[in-house]
Amino acid sequence: MPRRRKRDYLIRGFSKLLKEDKVQIVSELMDNQVEAMELLKSFWHTDNSQQKIFDEFSENTISNYYIPYGVAPNVVVNGRTYHVPVVVEESSVVAAASSSSKFWSERGGFKAEIVDIEKIGQVHFLWSGEKAKLVKVFDELKYYLRGATKDTTKNMDQRGGGIIDFELIDFTEEIENSYQIKVTFDTVDSMGANFINSCLEEFASALQDFFKTHKIFSEDEKEVEIIMSILSNYTPNCLVKAWVECDFKDLDGVYKEMTGEQFAHKFETAVKIAEIDVYRAATHNKGIFNGVDAVAIATGNDFRAIESAGHAYAARDGKYRSLTKVTLSGTKFLYELNIPIALGTVGGLTSLHPLAKHSLEMLGNPSAKELMMIVASVGLANNFAAIRSLVTKGIQIGHMKMHLYNILNHIEATKDEKDMAVEHFVIHKVSYGAVQKFIENLREN
Ligand code: MEV
Repeated sequence: MPRRRKRDYLIRGFSKLLKEDKVQIVSELMDNQVEAMELLKSFWHTDNSQQKIFDEFSENTISNYYIPYGVAPNVVVNGRTYHVPVVVEESSVVAAASSSSKFWSERGGFKAEIVDIEKIGQVHFLWSGEKAKLVKVFDELKYYLRGATKDTTKNMDQRGGGIIDFELIDFTEEIENSYQIKVTFDTVDSMGANFINSCLEEFASALQDFFKTHKIFSEDEKEVEIIMSILSNYTPNCLVKAWVECDFKDLDGVYKEMTGEQFAHKFETAVKIAEIDVYRAATHNKGIFNGVDAVAIATGNDFRAIESAGHAYAARDGKYRSLTKVTLSGTKFLYELNIPIALGTVGGLTSLHPLAKHSLEMLGNPSAKELMMIVASVGLANNFAAIRSLVTKGIQIGHMKMHLYNILNHIEATKDEKDMAVEHFVIHKVSYGAVQKFIENLREN
């Protein structure tokens, strides 16, 4: 048996090792080194050239980590039907999105509109000069900064995007000598992170030149210290609104023990709780991101960026709240989601990852704006499904039904045992213990 390495030691130069050696070292941490190596390698792509693509997305790659790639069919957005690719590991997320999309497809579908698509970047710097001078030459500075990035912005300008504007932000009250140049961008169909960050670093060095060479500044005012140049993931003006609406009577039958109107009122209370209570709001919004992230991942987008923008936006008035809002007026039910979603349909992983490319093609190769509307609609679909379950039958019935396969796999049920279990648990409550007992009984008889 190969010797097992101790876990608590530093591995020097790991990134420089060959992949085989990385696998070997990592496997030495495990009880069964041979089995560990086999396991890692069993998830390698059989086609070496495909595997190389995955290896190069990241660093220190030793294997691939599978997450189910599924479809939420029949998502009707602004009258167009999409069958939406979703990547998520949580059982019931896809089922929730699908059933909610079907429900709304029979009631006019989702409506969506882009509020704006502005992205933001910041150059933070320290400067001890007279602020009035900087304000006076700020238009000149803007022109200078635009000029300094002309080569970098050329393609983006041609695609109809580029730099929108610059703003000087004064942080000197909070941090001595601290200012920021806040820049807004339109990155058209790309997420634009690399474009923005490249521009910002060029602005930073141009800013130093500007201070050095402009005659308005005294000798003491020529020095500026750049702290950092980076895009902001808070994009409150890269905003999409998605909504559903119907008459109360169209909600009749959602739950047999309630009229549509009673359901609408209970639903409204549940959403209001998420507006006032941070504990509920976080879970409520998590349900939105179940759908949002799943489509973002399937299309090769940065779901961490989208999440951070969404949560910051949820706290935009100083208190973290629900991202959705319900309005009941007369006999009308209106439910809307306003969410910042900075994503791209060109560049980044979107064309490099074979399944991201596939996802975009499945959606008809949408523009970034169209994809924002699809993503927001799926987020709303998931959230609606969650609240519908919570205020009626609860989520565990559906959730545990979906979880049944996980339990069956965990206890290594055979195909026949699974088939019998699925039939049995149509009318019986699923729990780990109940499933285990059911399978044990089958095996004893
Ligand atoms: C589970 O992934 C998501 C829910 O908890 C969302 C919610 O409570 O609104 C069901």
